[in-house]
Amino acid sequence: MRKLIDKLHSERILSKDEFVTLLDGFDSEDAQYLFSKSRAVADKIFGNRIYMRGLIEFTNYCKNDCYYCGIRKSNLCADRYRLGKDEILSCCAKGYELGFRTFVLQGGEDPWYTDDKLIDIISTIRNAYPDCAITLSIGEKTYEQYLEYYKAGANRFLLRHETADAEHYSRLHPQGLSAENRKRCLYDLKKIGYQVGAGFMVGSPYQTTENIADDLLFIKELMPHMIGIGPFIPHKDTPFAEFPEGKLELCLFLIGILRLMIPNALIPATTALGTIHANGRELGILAGANVVMPNLSPVRVRKKYSLYDNKICTGEEAAECVNCLQNRMKKINYELVIDRGDFKPLQEN
Ligand code: 5AD
Ligand code: FES
Repeated sequence: MRKLIDKLHSERILSKDEFVTLLDGFDSEDAQYLFSKSRAVADKIFGNRIYMRGLIEFTNYCKNDCYYCGIRKSNLCADRYRLGKDEILSCCAKGYELGFRTFVLQGGEDPWYTDDKLIDIISTIRNAYPDCAITLSIGEKTYEQYLEYYKAGANRFLLRHETADAEHYSRLHPQGLSAENRKRCLYDLKKIGYQVGAGFMVGSPYQTTENIADDLLFIKELMPHMIGIGPFIPHKDTPFAEFPEGKLELCLFLIGILRLMIPNALIPATTALGTIHANGRELGILAGANVVMPNLSPVRVRKKYSLYDNKICTGEEAAECVNCLQNRMKKINYELVIDRGDFKPLQEN
């Protein structure tokens, strides 16, 4: 295992078989060995600086029906909401005061937000906050739509590929959604000039070690600027309610692997990681993550944006989460910084 970790460190890639061997065979000492390297790589590039992104969950309506997701259209128990333009802008205002320089507009795939409405919202934020990055996380669109949002002032786009394997993809999603289109979107976004975030859930139903190895190889091929991974967590009102949640150790190990694969990637310690373990996000940072994404949505809608059960931070004001996270980071000798935290090309020496 150590040999494979050393090889990954120097070559930034392994073969599929080698990834499978490593993922199936590592123990907790191997993990510590990996983390000492992945953390050193992150520290060398980012120091002890952790970037924060303000997440604005602006709609929980969704036309899709992904089997894992709590806001899927067939979940009739979901209490639906939309934020209007003014509410979104007041989230940005509050966020800016708290030091956020990246706003992430995330939502279900909600056709109520037509391209005209989206472009109006994006350009208004762009004009009001010229020094901030605008990140969209609004699902699958056409090349032309992505281009319009980009021209309106959006800079980044988060779209997890979910799983690179077409067959596994079809077990997580109803007909009509495909791994192929998902990947097409990611390549389109990159071509347009967005900083792009891909990623997947760890421990999603039917996921095999080979699937994870393929996810890693897909990520290496795409070379995204950001990589979001977190544990699958069941939601009680979905078809996957009875599946077990993803394992903390595997999530952390994968963060370490991804840091060695793409040293300068922006990798969040996700809310889902913080949900399955009280110190999940800190452990994520110590495994090589360098981003946190506190919630800027109004508290009244927080509980409603429920992709999975027991999500943390649904009762706290944004300011409380920033304080809480700053303290958590300080305890492990890191600090939250006021910075857009853009992707920077590697300065190889
Ligand atoms: N558990 C964990 N993550 C989930 N997501 C959706 N549903 C769940 C769940 N039940 C993730 C997906 C999606 C992102 C916004 O949230 O990977 O891309
Ligand atoms: Fe939200 Fe700790 S980060 S309460």
